Amino acid sequence: MTSKDPTSRAPKPRDHRDRVHDRMLARWFWLGHVRPWTGLIVLSLVLMAIDGAMTGAVSALLKPMFDDVLVETRSGMVIWVALAIGGAFVMRAGTSLAYKTLMAYVAEKVATGLQSDLTRHLMRLDQAFFRTHPPGHLIDRVRGDTQELNAVFEKLIPGVGRDMVSVVALLCVALYTDWVWTAVALVGIPFLVAPASMLQRLVRRMGVQARETSASASTRLDEIFHGVVTIQRTGLEDHEIGRLQRVLKRFLKARVRTAGGQAAMGSLSDVVAALGFALVLIFAGGQIATGERSVGDFMAFFAAIAFLFEPLRRLGSLSGVWQNVLASLDRVHRLLQEQPSITQPDAPLATLPAPGDEEIRLEGVTFAYDSDPVLRQLSLVAEAGKTTALVGASGAGKSTVFTLLTRLADPQQGRITIGGQDIRRMDLAGLRALFSVVAQDSALFDETLRDNVLMGATGIDEAQLQAALDAAHVTEFLDQLSNGVDTRVGPRGSALSGGQRQRVAIARALVRGAPILLLDEATSALDARSEKLVQEALDKLSVGRTTLVIAHRLSTVRRADKIIVLDRGTVIEEGTHDQLLAAGGSYARLYAMQFHDGME
Ligand SMILES: Nc1ncnc2c1ncn2[C@@H]1O[C@H](COP(=O)(O)OP(=O)(O)O)[C@@H](O)[C@H]1O
Ligand SMILES: [Mg+2]
Repeated sequence: MTSKDPTSRAPKPRDHRDRVHDRMLARWFWLGHVRPWTGLIVLSLVLMAIDGAMTGAVSALLKPMFDDVLVETRSGMVIWVALAIGGAFVMRAGTSLAYKTLMAYVAEKVATGLQSDLTRHLMRLDQAFFRTHPPGHLIDRVRGDTQELNAVFEKLIPGVGRDMVSVVALLCVALYTDWVWTAVALVGIPFLVAPASMLQRLVRRMGVQARETSASASTRLDEIFHGVVTIQRTGLEDHEIGRLQRVLKRFLKARVRTAGGQAAMGSLSDVVAALGFALVLIFAGGQIATGERSVGDFMAFFAAIAFLFEPLRRLGSLSGVWQNVLASLDRVHRLLQEQPSITQPDAPLATLPAPGDEEIRLEGVTFAYDSDPVLRQLSLVAEAGKTTALVGASGAGKSTVFTLLTRLADPQQGRITIGGQDIRRMDLAGLRALFSVVAQDSALFDETLRDNVLMGATGIDEAQLQAALDAAHVTEFLDQLSNGVDTRVGPRGSALSGGQRQRVAIARALVRGAPILLLDEATSALDARSEKLVQEALDKLSVGRTTLVIAHRLSTVRRADKIIVLDRGTVIEEGTHDQLLAAGGSYARLYAMQFHDGME
């Protein structure tokens, strides 16, 4: 598969592999996503076939219309021919209404189903995946690529069901009328093959490019709207628009070329049609003049061939449509192939710690996000029911310890136990349910304050909610909000202040009631007054829980049962505040510095 593989240089196997891959994608799509709708698709195909056959019927009816009604003026026939032609059109109207609605239904069912599958799958993936796939890009994949697949139901299946039947029916009428004329009219079609396959490749390539640039554009938009405050403050509007426009320009180019390529296939068939018409007219004109053939013959034939080119043109563009679909299928499929490295362990699972037995141990833990280890042979113990503080310079690896504890990543070496059991052997959801995390800027969702606190927790009555809100000092600002606890907090909680957001996050942790509390710089972003309130709330929260606290300001950790000082991923000191001060090491120096700077 790699470029070093000698066969990959030979053009033939490569083409072959592409075709095998395309077939695999089609099978995967069919088996996994389309098959449940077989019944509706078959029904639609029948309706499409009726629609297609009616086009043939209309052209066949032109012969009696001309020969019997218009030329011979047999008055008895008028009513029958008129009824038949009218009936054929009504049939077309009814069937096409029905199958278009059915196909739209199936298309949306398949697309929205894939959207949920894809989102559910993506939510399980590792942090490393999300570092290389920004949100805008993923939104575009989930929404845009699945929508591209609609073409299967809105173009491809009708193409096969209706247009193929039309083509066959019309060909029958044409051949029945005069096979020589038919051969003359269609003489140019073989010349379409080579340019059509060239166009097909162009459309595929441009389709891929259009989807890629569309994802980049979504990423840009996502960053613009998330960073809008920064952009406004620093006057970066023109700069950002410039970056967006460059992506959009590439998108536009790819889209226009895709559309152009698809249209060129149609135009090619028009040229061939023109050639055919001219030849037939010259050829047939003589035969009609001599009375060898009737005007009705010619009109039926002419209509059949004229009707024929429209579905033929659509059929011609289908390969381009299919190429586009394959490009999107490929991308959706590749995302679904991404596997998380953090998964539910195989049975037997380790038992989750009993209440009060949540002692946390890191034993020789080494961990790297990329190549440089962030944690190096790190060993530490946080006793159950006690408060353990992690301090150290920024970048020392403190937050990474929390990342590993909650299994957002696994260490490359060493192990982590809680209550004596390896966390890698515990039920993943059960493990994560052990923790409440309050970080520096807690993520709130664009829901009501109540929903942000409850976060789907069930069995919490109004009194319990009120108690949590009181303890977290949320109650104090509720009357400033228009709808109290039912006020929406805006995207990422932007309608609240930093201190208010933290207090909501603490209320959330209280309601969650998890036995282990992870506090990552929970008060660092706050002013003194908010810090005091939040700290009080945190103190209430940590009573009776195993607490790990990361704090920049040493004033908040001095009461911890144990303080662990990290430096570049290893423990350099540990003890109580008094012990560490007495030891006169780096903690003592750090403390003296903060005290001196008046940060106390
Ligand atoms: N998601 C991540 N991907 C890659 N590198 C990271 C990631 N998170 C942190 N790092 C790196 O790991 C190191 C330790 O980070 P962190 O644990 O956040 O430090 P601390 O919390 O002590 O300030 C830093 O050098 C940082 O650049
Ligand atoms: Mg940190």
